[in-house]
Amino acid sequence: MLVMSVVGNRPQFVKAAAVWPHLEQGNTDQLLVHTGQHYDRELSEVFFEELGLKPPARNLDAGSGSHAEQTGRIMSGLEAVVAEAKPDLALIYGDTNTTLAAALVAAKASLPAAHVEAGVRSFDRSTPEEINRLVADVTSGLLLCPTQTAVENLTAEGLGDRARLVGDVMLDVAQKFGPIADRRSDVVERLELEPHGYFLATAHRAGNVDDPQKLGRVVEVLQAARELAPVIFAVHPRTRARLTGDGLITTLEDAGIVLIEPLGYLAFARLLRSARAVLTDSGGVQKEAYLAAVPCVTLRDATEWVETVESGWNRLVSLDPAAAVEALSELAELRDRARPDPGVYGDGMAGARVAAEIERWLTSLSTP
Ligand code: UD1
Ligand code: UDP
Repeated sequence: MLVMSVVGNRPQFVKAAAVWPHLEQGNTDQLLVHTGQHYDRELSEVFFEELGLKPPARNLDAGSGSHAEQTGRIMSGLEAVVAEAKPDLALIYGDTNTTLAAALVAAKASLPAAHVEAGVRSFDRSTPEEINRLVADVTSGLLLCPTQTAVENLTAEGLGDRARLVGDVMLDVAQKFGPIADRRSDVVERLELEPHGYFLATAHRAGNVDDPQKLGRVVEVLQAARELAPVIFAVHPRTRARLTGDGLITTLEDAGIVLIEPLGYLAFARLLRSARAVLTDSGGVQKEAYLAAVPCVTLRDATEWVETVESGWNRLVSLDPAAAVEALSELAELRDRARPDPGVYGDGMAGARVAAEIERWLTSLSTP
């Protein structure tokens, strides 16, 4: 039996790193396909090196472009791989255009698909990620859910019979590589930061950075946070391009905000685990902050990771500087008196469960 895993961007390399070793130990053969959605070394190769993922067997080199261009290029490349390699199952991750393209190719080729991170919903259909999630869940036969909330979302959509609660694969990776990051990365020292004395920021959502007005407000939020503590901003290339185009790089630098390139997993994990709090619009970073007991302020109106908000460790502040400052001040004290419950995201064995569920499903599909 041949399992074709399809990955293409930063968060998917992290998620696949939790599953891959368990699939390798099992009874299936693996074909790892990189769609090429992310291609810069610091958004791609570094994750393979640091997280022990083996190099992809194929790279579709789809690259950047509009949604249609990017999705279409991935679909054409992947369709050819499916025709030639004849996998028995497609394994897809998360909510990006790589996920969407792979889900559609598998469905049209009548290739069974398993979706990791199924059932997650922000209920905001104005974002490309929500559309990608909805399509991937409708077309995939095995829906591997990170949380009970995700199972309930699928049940409400009539997809509960395909859902399996396996836990969150990002918890597996955080548990395994977090302590390694603390030992191996010297990024806190290199940037001359005081542990628990700075904020770590990321922002890359199209809804926040592609609109110049919204991007201006992201900058205002970071400026406001800088009044409380040093801000380290790890800048995604989409965001850097927009900031440069709008002349906002100098505004940030003049405010004393430290702009750095995207980091590899280990350096980023070390920075996050030592931060006083995180400001982000990333899905994965919200969750990683929660798992590291670091308060998070989310620069969005909605989140798919509702457990982080319900527990009080994450606050949605949209792009409101005053709300961000208030949340940062209030949440900073949280870590002195409490720890969040990582159990809502599983027990760190989600990758093993994904592999087991896939094998079971493949067996059931091949049994007449
Ligand atoms: C994509 C996902 C988003 C996810 C994010 C993870 C979609 C619709 N969006 O957003 O859900 O949170 O990945 O990081 O799939 N670029 C480079 N080098 C690269 C990759 C991108 O310079 O290696 C630049 C290009 O200018 C490109 C832009 O970043 O146009 C956006 O890249 P793209 O992959 O389209 O979307 P992301 O913003 O990365
Ligand atoms: N990440 C990283 N370096 C960075 C920023 C993020 O390694 O400079 C990691 C982060 O730890 C998490 C993943 O990238 O595992 C999240 O990806 P991203 O924020 O790009 O996408 P999202 O989760 O929003 O889809």
